[in-house]
Order: sequence, then structure tokens, then C-alpha cells
Amino acid sequence: MSMSAGAPPPDAQPLFVRLSGEAGIGQILDVQFEHIMADDHLREYFLDVDLPHLKASLSIFLRVAFGDTRAAYAGPTLHAAHKGQLVTELAFDTFVDSFVAAAAETGVDANSQAAARAVLKSMRASVITEFKPNPAYNYPTQPR
Ligand code: HEM
Repeated sequence: MSMSAGAPPPDAQPLFVRLSGEAGIGQILDVQFEHIMADDHLREYFLDVDLPHLKASLSIFLRVAFGDTRAAYAGPTLHAAHKGQLVTELAFDTFVDSFVAAAAETGVDANSQAAARAVLKSMRASVITEFKPNPAYNYPTQPR
């Protein structure tokens, strides 16, 4: 039996659709920040930060990053937003893990979790502003 025309396979949808769009990303961020503020290491970076503002800004940024062509991000660049914060490799990895764990908890499928992880990991060089690129390594994106 051949595949009939109709809905495309789930993996062909833009990632932001597979994350249940604006509402889904908002829900993931709510769960992620519950984890972050319960983590002794990560919490310290967010002391005195306006979390509702940060989540709203991050949500728009991630909608764009995950392929929502209707979203327009007008906030600071990743480099500017994290400059001087001494975000470590461990903090970055834990942050990405916490997003993916939150996605899993809100029902996102495993393929879409992996796709979201890959997008976030590609931003490492822009978030870790003290980062010195190793010329021998082929980074998906360069700091900007
Ligand atoms: C791929 C990973 C990350 C992305 C996409 C991201 C994205 C963003 C964006 C878009 C903002 C700007 C909010 C605004 O001012 O409008 C921001 C701010 C911020 N980020 Fe990140 N971030 C990431 C990783 C991290 C990590 C690992 C940390 C610390 C452990 C961190 C800590 C912060 C803090 C504290 C602010 C607020 C700065 C302030 O308001 O002065 N971020 N982030």
C-alpha cells in the first residue's frame, strides 16, 4: 500500500509546530525555569532577574530559532545578553538539558527533543562569551 497524500509526516513540520507552537514553548519555559530555580548552580545566574520579562523575550527568540516565521525578535543579541555573566560550559549544558527535560515533561516526542537540543547547542559560542574557538573544531555557528 502506498502512502496517501494528506498530513505530512510529523518530522516534516517546522520544529516550533512540533513543540506545540507559542503555547507549547511557553509551557516548556515555565517548567524549565522551575527546574532552573531549584538548581543550586543555575539559580545564582538568575537572582534579581525579571523572570516574566526574560521568559517572554526568550519565548520570542526561541520561536524564531525554531522556525516560526510570524515571530519577530527585537531584543539584545545572545552575545550582548550574556556578556559578563561568566556562563560556564557546565551552566550552558545544564541549561540546555533543563530545556529538553522540560520539553519531555510537557509531552514533546523524542525526535523533536533531539532537534531542539541541536538548535540550542549551536548557540554555545554566542552564550559563552568568554569562549575562545578552537580553530581545529568545526562549529556550526561562530560567535556574533
Ligand atoms: C541556548 C541557550 C540560551 C539562550 C537561547 C538564551 C537566550 C536569552 C535571551 C534571548 C536573553 C535576553 C532577554 C532580554 O533581555 O530580552 C537572555 C538573557 C539572560 N540569560 Fe540566557 N540564554 C541561553 C543560555 C543561558 C545560560 C546558560 C544562562 C546562565 C546559566 C543564561 C542566563 C541569562 C540571564 C541571567 C539573562 C538575563 C540578563 C539580564 O536581564 O540582564 N542564559 N538569554
